[in-house]
Amino acid sequence: MVETLESQAMVEVRAPATSANVGSGFDVFGVALDKPADIVRVERADETSIQVHGAGAQYIPEDPEKNTAGKVAEMLDAPAYIEIDKGVRPSSGLGSSAASAAGVAVALDELYDLGLTDQELVEAAAEGERVVSGSAHQDNVAPCIMGGFTVSGDDGTLQLPAEFYCVLALPDVIVSTSDGRDALPREVSLEQRATTVADASKVVAGVLQNDIDLLGRGMKDEVVENARAPLIDGYEDAKEAALDAGAAGVTISGSGPSVLAVCRREQRPDVAEALVEGFWSADVEAKAYQAKVGDGVQVLSRR
Ligand code: HSE
Repeated sequence: MVETLESQAMVEVRAPATSANVGSGFDVFGVALDKPADIVRVERADETSIQVHGAGAQYIPEDPEKNTAGKVAEMLDAPAYIEIDKGVRPSSGLGSSAASAAGVAVALDELYDLGLTDQELVEAAAEGERVVSGSAHQDNVAPCIMGGFTVSGDDGTLQLPAEFYCVLALPDVIVSTSDGRDALPREVSLEQRATTVADASKVVAGVLQNDIDLLGRGMKDEVVENARAPLIDGYEDAKEAALDAGAAGVTISGSGPSVLAVCRREQRPDVAEALVEGFWSADVEAKAYQAKVGDGVQVLSRR
């Protein structure tokens, strides 16, 4: 751990929700959302302790060994008192564990003036993800740290300028990331691989060209989406309703159960209503909120 005169005693950050996969980019694509967000506050301490409150806090272990943020503090050799105010509900498919892990990574970097690069922060935060899902996937922590739309690969993260609008629907269904991953097949055919590459290319081109229809056409994955859809009661109804209401693309957000619908700004109220009614037609309660592509972790205060 490197300490300098500029080091802080306390740092508070805002770490946004994210939507991973965006259909065809399983474990690769992710997008930062403008809301909701976790607020993470860190203070210097001799050993790490964690307090969690806010949305779904009762489901999150405060033992640093079992907590995503505790793992990040250990990785960075940066002990701290960590307070997390959850705005992103756990097991929602909106990058809840990633928001805490990424928020803590950035906050500890500031607190101890570690001078880490974005990619180093992404890698540390991804180790936090491993604690909850068994896999150090970077597709939530990367957009959470860097903002915008990200492409995570084995040689680092690409950040693409992105500006699009969306609706997120959160049904009253629980799907943990590990259950969502266990549902996936271990092998894919060459035909499926080719289709996924074509669809993922449409997503990237759609983002870069600001072509929402092209982006929406690529937002599907017959392997991952088909395997997970049965875990989310009402998903097919909600998807169909949102597409009928004008959404350019609809898919499962991360490992679910949230649903991501990309659409034009003015269509968001109709798409939000359609998603809720679609779930309702399958006897599932859901809440929807309107969002857009957002920034990465922001430092709110330091002293
Ligand atoms: N890419 C991950 C998955 C995101 O789909 O399992 C979940 O956090």
